[in-house]
Amino acid sequence: MSDKVIINEVGLRDGLQNQPRHVPVKGKLKILDALIDSGVRSVEATSFVSPKAVPQMADAAELYGRLPLDKGVTYQALVPNEKGYERAVASGAKTIALVLASTEQMNVKNIGMSLERATEVNIAVIKRAKREGIIPRSYISTAVGCPYEGDVAPEVVFDLTARMFEAGAAEVAVADTIGSGNPAQVKFIFETLANRYGPDRLAAHFHDTRGLALANTWAALECGIRTFDTSIGGLGGCPFAPGATGNVATEDVVHMVERSGFETGIDVEKLRKAVKIAADYTGQALGGRVLSWIESQERRKQAKASAAAE
Ligand code: COA
Ligand code: ZN
Repeated sequence: MSDKVIINEVGLRDGLQNQPRHVPVKGKLKILDALIDSGVRSVEATSFVSPKAVPQMADAAELYGRLPLDKGVTYQALVPNEKGYERAVASGAKTIALVLASTEQMNVKNIGMSLERATEVNIAVIKRAKREGIIPRSYISTAVGCPYEGDVAPEVVFDLTARMFEAGAAEVAVADTIGSGNPAQVKFIFETLANRYGPDRLAAHFHDTRGLALANTWAALECGIRTFDTSIGGLGGCPFAPGATGNVATEDVVHMVERSGFETGIDVEKLRKAVKIAADYTGQALGGRVLSWIESQERRKQAKASAAAE
């Protein structure tokens, strides 16, 4: 099985969408530059959603027009409906990410549609994307738990995943939007889906609300999953999923998988710059656990060096 892990950075979308302080396009591009410099090559850059629903993403078209296209980076744009699809494609998007929640209420709260309607809209947009040469990625969100309806039966996730693949989705990302899942649930879901579709067409998206995101990442990795959505510094939280905190931190996942013998092509040390820029622009204290460790190592080294100099 492959030892290459794809880190799909979602900080610019999932990470920023709930931030109270507006981050200008210039700031988003600075974060992106630092991410690219550290080796990140897959990025969900923004979402073409209603600016009233998510003001932080109102600049999606401008941002898309200014993305660096000469660095070998694959960008995705999240779209909630046909209008979002059209805006994204008009702005140059080549890969889109559709979002379908596993429960009725989450779809209603998030995109103003019933589960049935949202499923139809997702299928229609996937089919249109395929016809028009655009790559469709599908999120099945709130896949283990919903802030409005509680537990979600895995069969629902299996059924929705099947329908997205039947429609032509290139990849399905199973998302624990509120971070309520545990490794046993994750293992069952990904083992079942990987047996049906192969692990290469699946991705995992974890939030760290209860501190289980790294354990869940490992559980998915053991099922053969090699694509993970992560967010720089652990930035994040969904405005329509109360109580959910940020995604698993990019630097923590990179550190964990690299130490375990996988390759991401990303330099953890260099990610620190991206974390710092994101923290400066958002005013949030950011950083995965591994950064505290790196910083404590540096303090020890400095203390040793100054003791030796005295
Ligand atoms: N981008 C920008 N504007 C959009 C849009 C899109 N993708 N889809 C619809 N609109 C506009 C409509 O044109 C309309 O504009 P108007 O008031 O000027 O006429 C307005 O939004 C309302 O349209 P309507 O179809 O009634 O949608 P709604 O108000 O039920 O909102 C969504 C539906 C999907 C646009 C909105 O719920 C949304 O953007 N949700 C995304 C939430 C999100 O980002 N969640 C986190 C990521 S999963
Ligand atoms: Zn998320």
